[in-house]
Amino acid sequence: MAQKLAFRPFRGIQYRILRRSQIRRTFLFAVQAGSPLVRSLLASLTLLAVAMAAPAVAAQKVALFIDVSKPGPKIDRNLFGQFAEHLGHGVYEGIWVGPDSKIPNTRGIRNDVVAALKAIKVPNVRWPGGCFADEYHWRKGIGPQRTVTLNPNWGGVIEPNTFGTTEFMDFLDQIGAEAYLSVNVGSGTPQEAAEWLEYLTTAQPTTLAKERAANGHPDPYKVAFLGIGNESWDCGGNMTPDYYLSQLKIYSRFVRNFNPAQQDKQQMLKIAVGPGGSESRWTEWTDAIMKAYQNHTWSWDMNGLSMHSYTVVKWPPSFASVGFGETEYAQILKSTLEMNSLVEKHSAIMDKYDPEKKVALVVDEWGGWYAPLPGSNPAFLLQQNSLRDGILAALNVNIFARHADRVRGANIAQMINVLQAMILTDKEKMTVTPTYYVFKMYVPFQDAILVPATFDAGTFTHDGITLPRIDAIAAKDKAGKLWLAITNVDPNQSAEIEVTLAGMNAKSAAGETLSASKVDSVNTFDAPNTVVPKPFSAKAQDGKLTLKLEPKSVTAIALEQ
Ligand code: AHR
Repeated sequence: MAQKLAFRPFRGIQYRILRRSQIRRTFLFAVQAGSPLVRSLLASLTLLAVAMAAPAVAAQKVALFIDVSKPGPKIDRNLFGQFAEHLGHGVYEGIWVGPDSKIPNTRGIRNDVVAALKAIKVPNVRWPGGCFADEYHWRKGIGPQRTVTLNPNWGGVIEPNTFGTTEFMDFLDQIGAEAYLSVNVGSGTPQEAAEWLEYLTTAQPTTLAKERAANGHPDPYKVAFLGIGNESWDCGGNMTPDYYLSQLKIYSRFVRNFNPAQQDKQQMLKIAVGPGGSESRWTEWTDAIMKAYQNHTWSWDMNGLSMHSYTVVKWPPSFASVGFGETEYAQILKSTLEMNSLVEKHSAIMDKYDPEKKVALVVDEWGGWYAPLPGSNPAFLLQQNSLRDGILAALNVNIFARHADRVRGANIAQMINVLQAMILTDKEKMTVTPTYYVFKMYVPFQDAILVPATFDAGTFTHDGITLPRIDAIAAKDKAGKLWLAITNVDPNQSAEIEVTLAGMNAKSAAGETLSASKVDSVNTFDAPNTVVPKPFSAKAQDGKLTLKLEPKSVTAIALEQ
């Protein structure tokens, strides 16, 4: 199928070349030969033929209207959060190589990875899992002597615990991100979690604080987010909503943050386990937790409800992450767009019990989940990351941004070497992925104010699958600059977008665009620049700003009025 499609434009070009030379010959003959009547007839025929021979008619221009006078909610920077689980080479090798490694590092943490992550301004990192979190015992990962354990969830491999609390907090410090800790509800105890938070956050000279100081950090750490369990309806202990609620109340009450700087301002936000899909078991779960929240007393609280949703199409994940064609491209994007109805479904339940939207919906696991790369350990969830994933990322972030009044956090799964990663490493080699570049291009949208962008998306159809052709969001950053991110989903046709701002005209636009020759183009260690953003600019002509977007592209630009 892919081969057949690849041939189509080539055959089209040949056809058009042939037609053009024929037309030229006909036109010359007419001019030499004939009477005015013949000449005018031939000229008309020529014009008709030229029109017929013009390149394939481009899809209609899209009129995009941005109303800056109607500011919406803030696009919380935490929508661009990351997730790093002890899984495969996500942490070990991806972040941690140890201080004695030949790979340049700072206290054991890879310098190349830190530099790349700093550039995308990671707001927070969720750690240590995932399913791993419900089997993690923090004391095994502190101090000079670490306990060697197992990682039963992910291949039963050795867990050396050399990357523990100190190393994670050091890593966050190096990349400038906040901590999102997932505490162990499945196989741990409230006391264990409470002591972890005391160890991390108290400024008082308790025995645990002294232990922290002895381990190199006299000052208390900040913990921005506390995840109370992970998928407690499944790998986190197969709990019923009621059982989980009983745990949530206990953990919420006793797992305290003592950091003096987080008592009034910057309070730690507690995230409860939420749904993992759209079926009734998930809507019932959301309903039960939110109902309990509505009736909660002073002794417990929650600030967020987590939601997990992967783009997987069928289980077990069998779509290839590279070496696929436009059918798989369309299938995956169609599936990923279901995020919109999922967010709306669970938001509607939350609205019922929390109309003031105090509780955030936090999509703290999302992304494409494909078949493991051939030859890799299937339990390590290693996959490539193509242009399709960059587009998938932009579409999801746009969905989150459009629901920014409720969706105030999201963590893509996962940061390095696992699932839809930002970064791939192999020993000393490292490359960043198309998804990474989308996150980089969207940096101006972090904490920017959403402004309505209206447009007729049109459609792109392939193999019976119909998708919106265009997607876009607009936002105003803190400096007042207007940003526009547009995705052209169509893999073959460029798109022309005519931008209008309420009451005024946009005069120019500048930023970057990301595309590549194929939907499955990837960056590899040997060819790391196959999918990289290029500068993009446009100037208004006759008072109109028209943007010409490449097929299968993501573009982020600042607009000047
Ligand atoms: O991200 C991989 C796994 O997917 C996580 O550990 C779990 O929470 C989810 O099922």
